[in-house]
Amino acid sequence: MILKENKIQTKSYFIETYGCQMNVYDSELVASFLEKSGYQSTSDYNSADVIFLNTCSIRDNAENTVHRKLENLAYLKKQNPKMMIGVLGCMAQNLKNELMESKPYVDVILGPDSYRKIPEILESRNKTNNHFVDTKLSKFEIYEDLFPTRKSGVNAWVSIMRGCDKFCTFCIVPFTRGRERSRTIDSIVKEVEACIEQGFIEITLLGQNVNSFRTPDGEFPELLDAVSKVKGLKRLRYTSPHPRDIDDHLLNVMKKNKNICNHIHLPLQAGSDRILKRMNRTYSKKEFLDLVIKIKKYLPDCSITTDIIVGFPGETEEEFSDTLDVAEKVIFDNSFMFKYSPRPGTKAAGYTDQVDEEVKQNRLERYIALQKILTLKNNKLKIGKTFEVLVEKESKKSANQWAGRLDGNMWVVFDKTNEKIKDLVKVRILDTKGITLFGERV
Ligand code: 5AD
Ligand code: SF4
Repeated sequence: MILKENKIQTKSYFIETYGCQMNVYDSELVASFLEKSGYQSTSDYNSADVIFLNTCSIRDNAENTVHRKLENLAYLKKQNPKMMIGVLGCMAQNLKNELMESKPYVDVILGPDSYRKIPEILESRNKTNNHFVDTKLSKFEIYEDLFPTRKSGVNAWVSIMRGCDKFCTFCIVPFTRGRERSRTIDSIVKEVEACIEQGFIEITLLGQNVNSFRTPDGEFPELLDAVSKVKGLKRLRYTSPHPRDIDDHLLNVMKKNKNICNHIHLPLQAGSDRILKRMNRTYSKKEFLDLVIKIKKYLPDCSITTDIIVGFPGETEEEFSDTLDVAEKVIFDNSFMFKYSPRPGTKAAGYTDQVDEEVKQNRLERYIALQKILTLKNNKLKIGKTFEVLVEKESKKSANQWAGRLDGNMWVVFDKTNEKIKDLVKVRILDTKGITLFGERV
């Protein structure tokens, strides 16, 4: 029984997460540290005892959003000086000195490998008001023995490896998250089993480079195979792989196991050989296109999505048209599209031939326009066909309709009948608008 007096004394925390899914996972890890130390989650940050922002440095607009948020928090802190404000994640790692100088009201700065320090920080905070900074990157920290505190839902994210050794010249991740290290297959399988027991039915394996996963007991294909065998797992996804490391073994495992989704997020970044080389992506346009042919040979209906950067330093109009050309040839189902953003400290930020903002904006708009056409083209091919759909939530537009996903990751909206959330049902596609499909139960 929880006594009322105890309840009043319980301290509360609020975590706001920016950036990639890895940060969502890390925030869940941080939550588990906080809860073990007796803190309770609150949705009202005005009254929280601890506010953590788990931050992202991938592009400058991600950083700017966090700077603005911190300025708001400065006001709260003035009203309640006991409140603890912490910056976690990539910006903590990357901008520690700047943060300490310009935002003295930030009490705690912790890089992605320092979250084990949280209980100790909370403990010492009860005694003094010291600042705490730890941004040491570790070659070993994988939080192997910890399971994150997850909210309930359909999909659980499970981190399988941390860090990145690829050093694409535009990317800050190898600097903020350090070297690649993998968890053991055994502990990942155990975590997936625990997720299924908790009621999740879809798992997405996460890593900066999932297919760089390497352990003495096996590499990424072996892991995928082992996880797909977990009882009760309806769907298995992973993100993001590096195109260089997608091989026959992996495609075979995907083909063999029905619950592994027919979807590969395959970051292209750019279509020109010269730009790819300057980006250190280690594949050519032809190699990428050949890989897509190979994927379709194993998995004919596999949906392929991608990441695109426009306006990388030195990118000419003709080189940009190579990106459009690859997109048209592959007919990507969807793309995450970004204007190149120089990240201080990366190789590409030092290139002297940066592309003008207007040119980047114009290329971004042209790529977005093409992607809309490609998505529509792919979606139209689905009209009249029946697909297995995982019922995930009520449609935003109507309480009489469900929204669910195809295994290719597209959303479909359909009228409710007798199904419930987490059911896998057959839906015939009737129409498509924007990126959404509309269908009916069959
Ligand atoms: N500028 C723009 N986009 C970037 N990405 C990574 N670094 C940058 C950058 N400096 C994009 C890449 C990557 C995705 C996660 O973010 O497309 O695949
Ligand atoms: Fe960044 Fe490249 Fe590593 Fe992806 S593979 S995290 S883009 S350095």
